[in-house]
Amino acid sequence: MSAPPAQLSLRRPDDWHVHLRDGALLQAVLASTAAQFGRAIVMPNLSPPITTVAAALAYRQRILAALPDGSGFTPLLTAYLTDTIDPAELERGFGEGVFAACKLYPANATTNSAAGVSDLANLSALFETLERLGMPLLIHGEVTDAEIDIFDREAVFIERHLEPLLRRHPGLKVVLEHITTAEAAAFVAASSANLAATITPHHLHINRNALFRGGLRPDMYCLPVAKREQHRLALRAAAISGNPRFFLGTDSAPHPRHAKEAACGCAGIFNAPYAIESYALAFEQEGALDRLEAFASEFGPRFYGLPLNEERITLVRESVSVPARLHLNDAAGEAVELVPFHAGELLPWRLA
Ligand code: NCD
Ligand code: ZN
Repeated sequence: MSAPPAQLSLRRPDDWHVHLRDGALLQAVLASTAAQFGRAIVMPNLSPPITTVAAALAYRQRILAALPDGSGFTPLLTAYLTDTIDPAELERGFGEGVFAACKLYPANATTNSAAGVSDLANLSALFETLERLGMPLLIHGEVTDAEIDIFDREAVFIERHLEPLLRRHPGLKVVLEHITTAEAAAFVAASSANLAATITPHHLHINRNALFRGGLRPDMYCLPVAKREQHRLALRAAAISGNPRFFLGTDSAPHPRHAKEAACGCAGIFNAPYAIESYALAFEQEGALDRLEAFASEFGPRFYGLPLNEERITLVRESVSVPARLHLNDAAGEAVELVPFHAGELLPWRLA
Protein backbone atom coordinates (compact mmCIF):
# COMPACT_ATOMS: atom_id res chain seq x y z
CA MET A 1 0.00 0.00 0.00
CA SER A 2 1.29 3.48 -0.79
CA ALA A 3 1.83 5.98 2.04
CA PRO A 4 -1.31 7.88 3.02
CA PRO A 5 -1.53 11.55 1.95
CA ALA A 6 -0.65 14.24 4.53
CA GLN A 7 -4.15 15.58 4.28
CA LEU A 8 -7.49 14.89 2.71
CA SER A 9 -9.93 17.48 1.52
CA LEU A 10 -13.57 16.42 1.26
CA ARG A 11 -16.82 18.09 0.44
CA ARG A 12 -18.46 18.54 3.86
CA PRO A 13 -20.24 15.26 4.66
CA ASP A 14 -23.82 14.80 5.85
CA ASP A 15 -25.11 12.30 8.38
CA TRP A 16 -28.12 10.46 6.99
CA HIS A 17 -29.10 8.92 10.35
CA VAL A 18 -28.50 10.47 13.76
CA HIS A 19 -30.16 10.70 17.16
CA LEU A 20 -29.85 14.25 18.45
CA ARG A 21 -32.15 13.66 21.46
CA ASP A 22 -33.97 16.53 23.15
CA GLY A 23 -33.75 18.80 26.17
CA ALA A 24 -30.56 18.68 28.22
CA LEU A 25 -28.99 15.86 26.21
CA LEU A 26 -29.65 17.64 22.88
CA GLN A 27 -27.64 20.60 24.13
CA ALA A 28 -24.79 18.29 25.21
CA VAL A 29 -24.47 16.26 22.00
CA LEU A 30 -25.56 18.54 19.14
CA ALA A 31 -22.24 20.38 18.75
CA SER A 32 -20.43 17.10 17.99
CA THR A 33 -22.61 16.45 14.96
CA ALA A 34 -22.73 20.10 13.87
CA ALA A 35 -18.92 20.31 13.90
CA GLN A 36 -18.61 17.52 11.36
CA PHE A 37 -21.68 17.46 9.17
CA GLY A 38 -23.50 19.95 6.97
CA ARG A 39 -26.88 18.30 7.36
CA ALA A 40 -28.31 15.34 9.20
CA ILE A 41 -31.41 13.23 9.03
CA VAL A 42 -32.62 13.46 12.61
CA MET A 43 -34.41 10.48 14.09
CA PRO A 44 -37.87 11.10 15.58
CA ASN A 45 -37.77 8.54 18.42
CA LEU A 46 -38.22 11.09 21.16
CA SER A 47 -40.58 10.60 24.04
CA PRO A 48 -43.25 11.32 22.86
CA PRO A 49 -42.25 10.58 19.24
CA ILE A 50 -42.47 13.18 16.46
CA THR A 51 -45.70 12.29 14.67
CA THR A 52 -47.05 15.69 13.61
CA VAL A 53 -45.86 18.64 11.56
CA ALA A 54 -46.30 20.89 14.59
CA ALA A 55 -44.12 18.65 16.77
CA ALA A 56 -41.43 18.53 14.07
CA LEU A 57 -41.42 22.31 13.67
CA ALA A 58 -41.09 22.78 17.42
CA TYR A 59 -38.27 20.21 17.58
CA ARG A 60 -36.47 21.89 14.70
CA GLN A 61 -36.63 25.19 16.64
CA ARG A 62 -35.15 23.51 19.72
CA ILE A 63 -32.31 22.08 17.63
CA LEU A 64 -31.59 25.42 15.96
CA ALA A 65 -31.67 27.19 19.34
CA ALA A 66 -29.13 24.70 20.75
CA LEU A 67 -26.64 25.11 17.88
CA PRO A 68 -23.31 26.80 18.61
CA ASP A 69 -23.10 30.37 17.27
CA GLY A 70 -22.17 30.56 13.61
CA SER A 71 -22.95 26.92 12.87
CA GLY A 72 -24.28 26.30 9.38
CA PHE A 73 -25.72 22.92 10.32
CA THR A 74 -29.15 22.01 8.92
CA PRO A 75 -31.32 19.41 10.65
CA LEU A 76 -33.61 17.41 8.36
CA LEU A 77 -36.56 16.10 10.30
CA THR A 78 -38.40 12.82 10.06
CA ALA A 79 -41.86 11.60 11.01
CA TYR A 80 -42.28 8.58 13.26
CA LEU A 81 -44.74 6.11 11.80
CA THR A 82 -47.36 4.61 14.06
CA ASP A 83 -50.30 2.31 13.33
CA THR A 84 -52.65 5.28 13.31
CA ILE A 85 -50.65 8.11 11.73
CA ASP A 86 -52.59 10.05 9.11
CA PRO A 87 -50.99 9.88 5.64
CA ALA A 88 -52.35 13.40 5.01
CA GLU A 89 -50.16 14.72 7.85
CA LEU A 90 -47.10 13.19 6.20
CA GLU A 91 -48.07 14.62 2.85
CA ARG A 92 -48.52 18.09 4.32
CA GLY A 93 -45.22 17.91 6.23
CA PHE A 94 -43.31 16.69 3.21
CA GLY A 95 -44.94 19.30 0.97
CA GLU A 96 -44.05 22.08 3.42
CA GLY A 97 -40.44 20.90 3.63
CA VAL A 98 -40.74 20.01 7.31
CA PHE A 99 -40.44 16.24 6.96
CA ALA A 100 -37.55 15.04 4.81
CA ALA A 101 -38.55 11.40 5.27
CA CYS A 102 -40.45 9.10 7.57
CA LYS A 103 -39.10 6.47 9.88
CA LEU A 104 -40.50 3.02 10.43
CA TYR A 105 -39.68 1.32 13.70
CA PRO A 106 -41.22 -2.10 14.12
CA ALA A 107 -42.98 -1.79 17.50
CA ASN A 108 -40.52 -2.53 20.32
CA ALA A 109 -37.50 -3.06 18.06
CA THR A 110 -35.31 -0.50 19.84
CA THR A 111 -35.14 2.60 22.08
CA ASN A 112 -38.46 4.51 22.20
CA SER A 113 -40.12 2.33 19.59
CA ALA A 114 -43.10 1.13 21.62
CA ALA A 115 -45.39 3.37 19.54
CA GLY A 116 -43.94 1.94 16.31
CA VAL A 117 -45.67 -0.10 13.64
CA SER A 118 -47.16 -3.45 14.64
CA ASP A 119 -47.88 -4.79 11.13
CA LEU A 120 -46.62 -3.37 7.84
CA ALA A 121 -49.47 -5.02 6.00
CA ASN A 122 -51.93 -2.59 7.66
CA LEU A 123 -50.25 0.51 6.27
CA SER A 124 -50.76 0.07 2.55
CA ALA A 125 -52.65 3.38 2.16
CA LEU A 126 -49.75 5.16 3.81
CA PHE A 127 -47.17 3.41 1.63
CA GLU A 128 -49.17 4.36 -1.45
CA THR A 129 -48.98 7.99 -0.35
CA LEU A 130 -45.21 7.78 0.14
CA GLU A 131 -44.82 6.12 -3.24
CA ARG A 132 -46.82 8.86 -4.95
CA LEU A 133 -44.90 11.64 -3.15
CA GLY A 134 -41.45 10.09 -3.56
CA MET A 135 -41.08 10.57 0.21
CA PRO A 136 -38.29 8.33 1.55
CA LEU A 137 -39.20 5.59 4.00
CA LEU A 138 -36.38 4.88 6.45
CA ILE A 139 -36.58 1.46 8.00
CA HIS A 140 -35.17 -0.05 11.17
CA GLY A 141 -34.98 -3.50 9.66
CA GLU A 142 -35.31 -6.00 12.47
CA VAL A 143 -38.10 -8.38 13.37
CA THR A 144 -39.20 -8.14 16.98
CA ASP A 145 -40.28 -11.75 17.31
CA ALA A 146 -38.69 -13.01 20.56
CA GLU A 147 -38.37 -16.47 19.00
CA ILE A 148 -35.92 -15.19 16.42
CA ASP A 149 -32.29 -15.14 17.48
CA ILE A 150 -31.17 -11.53 17.93
CA PHE A 151 -28.32 -12.01 15.46
CA ASP A 152 -30.79 -13.16 12.78
CA ARG A 153 -33.40 -10.44 13.19
CA GLU A 154 -32.18 -8.26 10.34
CA ALA A 155 -31.89 -11.06 7.80
CA VAL A 156 -35.33 -12.40 8.78
CA PHE A 157 -36.85 -8.90 8.48
CA ILE A 158 -35.59 -8.64 4.91
CA GLU A 159 -37.07 -11.97 3.96
CA ARG A 160 -40.38 -11.66 5.82
CA HIS A 161 -41.13 -7.96 5.49
CA LEU A 162 -38.87 -5.89 3.28
CA GLU A 163 -38.91 -8.06 0.20
CA PRO A 164 -42.73 -8.39 0.22
CA LEU A 165 -43.13 -4.65 0.95
CA LEU A 166 -41.00 -3.71 -2.06
CA ARG A 167 -42.91 -6.19 -4.18
CA ARG A 168 -46.24 -4.63 -3.15
CA HIS A 169 -44.91 -1.08 -3.58
CA PRO A 170 -42.24 -1.12 -6.27
CA GLY A 171 -42.17 2.69 -6.42
CA LEU A 172 -41.36 3.10 -2.73
CA LYS A 173 -38.08 4.88 -2.01
CA VAL A 174 -36.54 3.07 0.94
CA VAL A 175 -33.41 3.39 3.06
CA LEU A 176 -32.59 0.29 5.06
CA GLU A 177 -30.92 1.93 8.02
CA HIS A 178 -27.69 0.93 9.75
CA ILE A 179 -27.26 -2.39 7.99
CA THR A 180 -25.28 -5.00 9.89
CA THR A 181 -25.29 -8.15 7.77
CA ALA A 182 -23.94 -9.60 4.55
CA GLU A 183 -27.56 -10.48 3.72
CA ALA A 184 -28.61 -6.83 3.90
CA ALA A 185 -25.65 -5.65 1.83
CA ALA A 186 -26.35 -8.27 -0.83
CA PHE A 187 -30.08 -7.53 -0.88
CA VAL A 188 -29.53 -3.82 -1.36
CA ALA A 189 -26.85 -4.34 -4.01
CA ALA A 190 -29.16 -6.64 -5.97
CA SER A 191 -32.26 -4.46 -5.80
CA SER A 192 -33.54 -1.51 -7.77
CA ALA A 193 -32.40 2.11 -7.62
CA ASN A 194 -35.18 2.80 -5.07
CA LEU A 195 -33.46 0.95 -2.24
CA ALA A 196 -30.41 2.28 -0.41
CA ALA A 197 -28.72 1.60 2.92
CA THR A 198 -26.79 3.56 5.51
CA ILE A 199 -23.70 2.11 7.17
CA THR A 200 -22.43 3.22 10.59
CA PRO A 201 -18.77 3.66 11.53
CA HIS A 202 -19.04 1.20 14.40
CA HIS A 203 -20.34 -1.61 12.20
CA LEU A 204 -17.28 -1.10 9.98
CA HIS A 205 -14.95 -1.50 12.98
CA ILE A 206 -16.44 -3.97 15.43
CA ASN A 207 -17.88 -7.41 15.32
CA ARG A 208 -19.85 -9.07 18.10
CA ASN A 209 -16.69 -10.07 19.97
CA ALA A 210 -16.29 -6.39 20.91
CA LEU A 211 -19.28 -6.72 23.24
CA PHE A 212 -17.40 -9.20 25.40
CA ARG A 213 -13.76 -8.13 25.16
CA GLY A 214 -12.33 -8.09 28.68
CA GLY A 215 -15.82 -8.27 30.19
CA LEU A 216 -19.29 -7.10 29.26
CA ARG A 217 -18.99 -3.87 27.25
CA PRO A 218 -22.10 -1.66 27.25
CA ASP A 219 -20.27 0.95 25.15
CA MET A 220 -20.25 -1.51 22.26
CA TYR A 221 -23.95 -2.33 22.51
CA CYS A 222 -26.27 -0.91 19.89
CA LEU A 223 -29.19 -2.08 17.79
CA PRO A 224 -29.00 -3.73 15.41
CA VAL A 225 -26.29 -5.46 17.41
CA ALA A 226 -22.91 -6.04 15.73
CA LYS A 227 -22.69 -9.42 14.02
CA ARG A 228 -19.92 -11.91 13.14
CA GLU A 229 -16.68 -10.89 11.42
CA GLN A 230 -17.88 -12.07 7.99
CA HIS A 231 -20.66 -9.50 8.19
CA ARG A 232 -18.33 -6.66 9.17
CA LEU A 233 -16.21 -7.51 6.14
CA ALA A 234 -19.26 -7.51 3.88
CA LEU A 235 -20.24 -4.06 5.18
CA ARG A 236 -16.74 -2.76 4.49
CA ALA A 237 -16.91 -4.14 0.97
CA ALA A 238 -20.30 -2.45 0.43
CA ALA A 239 -19.11 0.89 1.86
CA ILE A 240 -16.06 1.06 -0.42
CA SER A 241 -17.79 -0.48 -3.45
CA GLY A 242 -18.64 2.84 -5.08
CA ASN A 243 -22.27 1.74 -5.31
CA PRO A 244 -24.19 5.01 -4.74
CA ARG A 245 -26.87 3.20 -2.77
CA PHE A 246 -24.57 2.71 0.24
CA PHE A 247 -23.90 5.91 2.13
CA LEU A 248 -22.97 7.42 5.47
CA GLY A 249 -25.33 7.32 8.44
CA THR A 250 -23.69 7.25 11.84
CA ASP A 251 -26.63 6.13 13.99
CA SER A 252 -24.88 8.08 16.72
CA ALA A 253 -27.20 7.29 19.64
CA PRO A 254 -25.97 8.86 22.87
CA HIS A 255 -27.10 7.68 26.27
CA PRO A 256 -25.48 8.98 29.48
CA ARG A 257 -22.92 6.52 30.82
CA HIS A 258 -25.07 5.64 33.83
CA ALA A 259 -27.93 4.61 31.51
CA LYS A 260 -25.67 2.29 29.52
CA GLU A 261 -23.69 0.83 32.41
CA ALA A 262 -26.75 -0.48 34.19
CA ALA A 263 -28.95 -3.53 34.39
CA CYS A 264 -30.87 -3.38 31.07
CA GLY A 265 -28.41 -0.78 29.77
CA CYS A 266 -29.56 1.24 26.75
CA ALA A 267 -28.61 0.37 23.19
CA GLY A 268 -26.74 3.03 21.28
CA ILE A 269 -23.17 4.05 20.47
CA PHE A 270 -22.15 7.71 20.65
CA ASN A 271 -19.86 8.05 17.65
CA ALA A 272 -20.61 11.64 16.57
CA PRO A 273 -17.47 13.29 18.05
CA TYR A 274 -15.04 11.30 15.84
CA ALA A 275 -17.36 10.01 13.15
CA ILE A 276 -15.58 11.15 10.01
CA GLU A 277 -12.22 10.20 11.54
CA SER A 278 -13.62 6.73 12.17
CA TYR A 279 -14.89 6.31 8.61
CA ALA A 280 -11.57 7.62 7.26
CA LEU A 281 -9.70 4.97 9.22
CA ALA A 282 -11.92 2.19 7.87
CA PHE A 283 -11.55 3.41 4.27
CA GLU A 284 -7.79 3.74 4.70
CA GLN A 285 -7.55 0.20 6.07
CA GLU A 286 -9.35 -0.96 2.92
CA GLY A 287 -7.03 1.05 0.66
CA ALA A 288 -10.06 3.06 -0.46
CA LEU A 289 -9.54 6.61 0.81
CA ASP A 290 -10.32 7.82 -2.70
CA ARG A 291 -13.89 6.49 -2.27
CA LEU A 292 -14.56 8.18 1.07
CA GLU A 293 -15.85 11.47 -0.31
CA ALA A 294 -18.49 9.87 -2.50
CA PHE A 295 -19.73 7.67 0.36
CA ALA A 296 -19.68 10.48 2.92
CA SER A 297 -20.71 13.51 0.90
CA GLU A 298 -22.24 12.65 -2.48
CA PHE A 299 -24.32 9.47 -2.52
CA GLY A 300 -26.62 10.52 0.34
CA PRO A 301 -27.72 13.87 -1.11
CA ARG A 302 -28.12 12.31 -4.55
CA PHE A 303 -30.46 9.65 -3.17
CA TYR A 304 -32.47 12.27 -1.26
CA GLY A 305 -32.52 14.60 -4.28
CA LEU A 306 -30.69 17.38 -2.41
CA PRO A 307 -27.80 19.55 -3.56
CA LEU A 308 -24.28 18.55 -2.55
CA ASN A 309 -22.59 20.69 0.11
CA GLU A 310 -20.25 23.26 -1.38
CA GLU A 311 -18.16 23.75 1.75
CA ARG A 312 -15.15 21.50 2.32
CA ILE A 313 -13.48 19.94 5.34
CA THR A 314 -9.89 18.84 5.79
CA LEU A 315 -8.66 15.73 7.50
CA VAL A 316 -5.04 15.97 8.57
CA ARG A 317 -2.84 12.93 8.94
CA GLU A 318 -2.13 13.47 12.63
CA SER A 319 -3.17 11.18 15.38
CA VAL A 320 -5.97 12.16 17.66
CA SER A 321 -6.44 10.59 21.03
CA VAL A 322 -10.06 9.78 21.82
CA PRO A 323 -10.83 10.38 25.51
CA ALA A 324 -12.10 7.45 27.59
CA ARG A 325 -15.03 9.63 28.64
CA LEU A 326 -16.50 12.93 27.57
CA HIS A 327 -18.13 15.40 29.94
CA LEU A 328 -20.36 17.58 27.81
CA ASN A 329 -22.37 20.46 29.20
CA ASP A 330 -26.12 20.22 28.97
CA ALA A 331 -28.56 23.14 28.83
CA ALA A 332 -28.36 23.67 32.59
CA GLY A 333 -24.55 23.73 32.48
CA GLU A 334 -24.35 20.30 34.13
CA ALA A 335 -21.84 17.84 32.68
CA VAL A 336 -23.27 14.73 31.04
CA GLU A 337 -20.85 11.83 31.03
CA LEU A 338 -20.72 9.90 27.76
CA VAL A 339 -18.40 7.21 26.44
CA PRO A 340 -17.48 7.98 22.82
CA PHE A 341 -16.89 5.30 20.21
CA HIS A 342 -13.13 4.53 19.97
CA ALA A 343 -12.75 5.57 23.65
CA GLY A 344 -9.10 5.40 24.67
CA GLU A 345 -7.85 4.77 21.11
CA LEU A 346 -5.58 6.76 18.85
CA LEU A 347 -7.08 7.55 15.45
CA PRO A 348 -4.74 8.49 12.58
CA TRP A 349 -6.84 11.32 11.07
CA ARG A 350 -7.77 14.59 12.72
CA LEU A 351 -10.54 16.88 11.50
CA ALA A 352 -8.90 20.30 11.01
C1 NCD B 1 -31.04 4.04 18.98
C2 NCD B 1 -31.43 4.97 20.12
O1 NCD B 1 -30.83 4.86 21.20
O2 NCD B 1 -32.29 5.81 19.92
N1 NCD B 1 -30.22 2.98 19.51
C3 NCD B 1 -29.32 2.25 18.81
O3 NCD B 1 -28.75 1.32 19.37
N2 NCD B 1 -29.05 2.49 17.56
C4 NCD B 1 -32.25 3.54 18.31
C5 NCD B 1 -31.97 2.84 17.01
O4 NCD B 1 -31.58 3.48 16.03
O5 NCD B 1 -32.15 1.63 16.96
ZN1 ZN C 1 -30.81 4.92 14.93
